[in-house]
Amino acid sequence: MKTFFKVIGIAVLTIVALAAIGVSWLALRKPAQRPASAERIEATPERIARGSYLVNHVADCLGCHSEHTLAYGFPIKPGREGAGGIVWDEKMGFPGRLAAANLTPDPETGLGKWSDGEILRAMREGVDRNGDALFPIMPYVQLRNLSDDDAKAIVAYLRTLRPIRYEKPKKQLNVPLNFIEKFIPQPLEGRVTAPDPNDSVAYGRYLTRIGGCYECHTPHDNKGPIEAQAFSGGWEMIGPWGRNVTANLTPHPDTFVGRATKAEFIGRFRAFANFTAANAPAAPKGRNTVMPWIELSGMTDHDLGAIYDYLKTVTPVAKKVDTFPNAQ
Ligand code: HEC
Ligand code: HEC
Repeated sequence: MKTFFKVIGIAVLTIVALAAIGVSWLALRKPAQRPASAERIEATPERIARGSYLVNHVADCLGCHSEHTLAYGFPIKPGREGAGGIVWDEKMGFPGRLAAANLTPDPETGLGKWSDGEILRAMREGVDRNGDALFPIMPYVQLRNLSDDDAKAIVAYLRTLRPIRYEKPKKQLNVPLNFIEKFIPQPLEGRVTAPDPNDSVAYGRYLTRIGGCYECHTPHDNKGPIEAQAFSGGWEMIGPWGRNVTANLTPHPDTFVGRATKAEFIGRFRAFANFTAANAPAAPKGRNTVMPWIELSGMTDHDLGAIYDYLKTVTPVAKKVDTFPNAQ
C-alpha cells in the first residue's frame, strides 16, 4: 500500500511539475517574429499624402487610436488625433483591459523612439518594440495585406502627427487570452504588393482587407473571421456608441448591397462627408454607430466603386440582420 501511494504521489508531483514548466514556458514564450528592418523611410510629399489618405479614410487607424465625442457617427475629438483612445474592458464585454496605443511622435508615450522598421513590423506582423505580441483587436492579421509602399506611406504620415503626451491604461489580459495572443503574430516573408488599381474587383478586395470591412462585417468564432460566411454580418458591437450589429454586405437580393446601384452605395458614405465633432447632430435614439462612416466618407469614388464591384462578386448569404437592435 505504501509503495502504491508513493507511486501515485510521484505521478501527481510529476504532473504538477510538468504543468508548472508548461505555464512558465508559455509565459516566457515570445511570438513568432523576425528582426525589425533597419530601413529609413524617406518622407516625400507624395508618400505623406498617400499615408494621410490611408490612415484617415481607408484603414481608419485614428478611429481606434483617438478619443471620440458621442455625436452621430462617433466623430474623433479634435486635438486628440492618434493619442490613443478606445479602451476595451469588461464594460465592452472584453476579458481584461486593452487600450489602443498612442501613435503620435511623443517620445515617452508615443512612437517617437520607435524606428520605421519597428512600426512597419507592429502594423503588419503584430509584435511591439520588445517583440511582445499585440492583441489582434489591433487588426494586423488583415493589415499584413498592406503593400510595402502603402505601409511605408502610413509610417511617413504618422511621423507628421502632432505629438501628444498621453499614457494609455495598462494592458491586462485574462487567462487564457494572454497565452493565446502569443500564437497569432506571423512574420512576413518577402515583398508585399497591391493589386493594380484598374483591376476594380481585385483592388476592391484589397481595400476591404486593409479597410476593416472584412474584419467587422464577417462573423467571428474564437479563431477569427469565419471565411465561409464572409461579409454576412451579424457581429454585435457594444460600446460608447451604443449597440450595433454589423450589416450583411453580401449581394443577396434582400440586402442593401444586393439592391443598391453604385451611385447609391457611394451616396451612403457621402451623406456623412460634412460631419465633424463640431457640427455632427445627436444620433437618432439607438442609432449611433461604430461603422466609421465619417472617416470612410473621404474615400475616393474610384475606391468606393472598387469596393462595390468586389462586394458584388462575393457569395450571397441569406441572413437578416437587425443592425440597430436598440432603435426606437
Ligand atoms: C480596431 C481598432 C484598431 C485599428 C483600426 C488600428 N489599431 Fe493599432 N492598435 C489597436 C490596439 C487595441 C492596440 C494595442 C494592442 C496591444 O496592446 O496589444 C494597437 C496597437 C498598435 C501599435 C503598437 C503601439 C504600441 O505602443 O505598442 C501600432 C504601431 C499601431 N497599433 C498602429 C496602427 C496603425 C498604423 C493602424 C492603421 C493602419 C492601426 N493601428 C489601426 C487598435 C487598432
Ligand atoms: C468597426 C466596424 C466596422 C468597419 C471597420 C466597417 N463597418 Fe460597415 N458597418 C458596421 C456596422 C456596425 C454597421 C451597421 C450600423 C450602421 O449601418 O451604421 C455597418 C453598416 C454598413 C453599411 C450599411 C449596410 C446596410 O445594410 O444598411 C455599409 C454599406 C457598410 N457598413 C460598408 C462598409 C465598408 C465598405 C467598410 C470598409 C471600407 C466597412 N463597412 C467597415 C461596422 C463596420
